[in-house]
Amino acid sequence: MNDTAVEAKGLYKIYKTGGKEVKALNGVSIDVKYGEVVSLLGPNGAGKTTLVKILATLLVPDDGQARVGGYDVLTQGHKVRKIIGYAGQDSERSAYFRLTARENLLFFARAFHGISKEEANKRIEELAIAFGFESKLDSYFIALSGGEKQTFVIIRSLITKPKIVFMDEPSKSLDPVTASRVRKYIKEYAKNFNAALLVTTHNMLEAEEISNKVVMINKGKILFNGTSEEMKSFVARTESIEIHKNNIEEEIKLQIMHVPGIISAVEKDSGISLVCKDAYEVLPSILSILKSNGRRLPISVGSTTLEEAFKVIVGGDKEN
Ligand SMILES: Nc1ncnc2c1ncn2[C@@H]1O[C@H](COP(=O)(O)OP(=O)(O)OP(=O)(O)O)[C@@H](O)[C@H]1O
Ligand SMILES: [Mg+2]
Repeated sequence: MNDTAVEAKGLYKIYKTGGKEVKALNGVSIDVKYGEVVSLLGPNGAGKTTLVKILATLLVPDDGQARVGGYDVLTQGHKVRKIIGYAGQDSERSAYFRLTARENLLFFARAFHGISKEEANKRIEELAIAFGFESKLDSYFIALSGGEKQTFVIIRSLITKPKIVFMDEPSKSLDPVTASRVRKYIKEYAKNFNAALLVTTHNMLEAEEISNKVVMINKGKILFNGTSEEMKSFVARTESIEIHKNNIEEEIKLQIMHVPGIISAVEKDSGISLVCKDAYEVLPSILSILKSNGRRLPISVGSTTLEEAFKVIVGGDKEN
């Protein structure tokens, strides 16, 4: 069997609303192998949900191809839907309000996947125990809290024991104990069932904990794709340069941001924060720009923490 579960090449998606166009995916390629958890990390609006929805056949890309479990998402969508598990980002509106959690789960397993009642019940109990959801199984969906609805959606995505699972921010609104149970389950599930999971998150520590591979995305483009170890060294081997002055002229800012070696630049109230691999390499060019514009601004150099560097890199990608 081919060991690649999910394979996407050159995906583009443009949303057009109210005369405005948003390039949500700008040439995204990604793959997930069986037995692997891939975390998709990126800030709000990065394109994570768009990508996951295309792979789960809920959205059609404008260009590019994707295969899930060997099936083409565009021409064999019905086959893809049969073999995947999907836990969407919007858990509030995702089930019948007037059925209990258990009834919803049973309905989903039996009507959509033809699983026997006994088998479905057994699986529901198993998953409820794993996530501490036993006492909520017989509550009406409408009466579940936000985090409980989210747990329900995760349980539903796993009920058929799918070999390929997409989870869009599974830990969103979960308390720390439940979030940790979900992370543990995801890791073991991929290992024990040789399943492929693509999980979106904003949380770098979560990505590090659960995944074999981390993909960082921002503004529809992939910034990094590698192991969490590689991500750590990619992100950690950076230094920061702070220019302490607010309202620096646009022209000077642009020149500084385009100095070769600057990975990203973010404007703050207190000035500009630059991330680079080697501050001493880029400083002479920055000083020369300031000098030629007759400016002598206070500058400081430091090393960034992992979390800070990540935030700056994904939040301040200067490419577009
Ligand atoms: N239905 C839509 N119509 C118009 N624009 C959209 C639509 N859905 C998403 N977008 C835009 O596409 C971009 C990508 O959105 P997407 O939901 O994929 O981001 P995300 O990474 O999942 O963000 P979040 O972390 O907030 O969930 C954003 O700029 C968003 O505003
Ligand atoms: Mg999203």
